[in-house]
Amino acid sequence: MDSSLVDIIQLCHLADRKAVKAYADLARGSADAELAAFWAELSRQEIEHVHHWQVAAGYAERGWLPQVFERPLEVLAELREAHRSIDRLVMNLGPAPGVLTSFTMAAELELIMLHPSFGALFEVMASLSGDTKFLDGYTAHLDGFVRVLGARAQGNPALLSLGEAITGRWQRSKLLGL
Ligand SMILES: [Fe+2]
Repeated sequence: MDSSLVDIIQLCHLADRKAVKAYADLARGSADAELAAFWAELSRQEIEHVHHWQVAAGYAERGWLPQVFERPLEVLAELREAHRSIDRLVMNLGPAPGVLTSFTMAAELELIMLHPSFGALFEVMASLSGDTKFLDGYTAHLDGFVRVLGARAQGNPALLSLGEAITGRWQRSKLLGL
């Protein structure tokens, strides 16, 4: 068993657990019923990702996953830094953030979670199980988010750019098989 791979998966798992909570908090803090339902749905989707990581951790602990990273310690360091960024984002969010602030936080959160290590592990899990359901679900998760972001961005260029960055980064990571 390669413990660094288990540690990487645990950090991915923890990131999605933080996303579950962040979106549930946005749902609670949203006065707009339609948006509250949207954030609650995103939180539910993140719960699916949490389950995925629990399965991946079980595989890794049994030694069923190959070490996909050339430099796992560097990946671990980057993921720890990603967690500091996530914590900062969540901490800076007030109890009832406005629509633009909420979407900006969520978009930055999704971008952080597009670190190549996540994509690389999705691919390995998909090829081991012969099932692309999770990858397809992740594409739908991001596409759905970016679509609503576009509808709610009020033409805000910085927010629209974040949406484009999410789509671009996910497409690139799929192209590269990361
Ligand atoms: Fe997400």
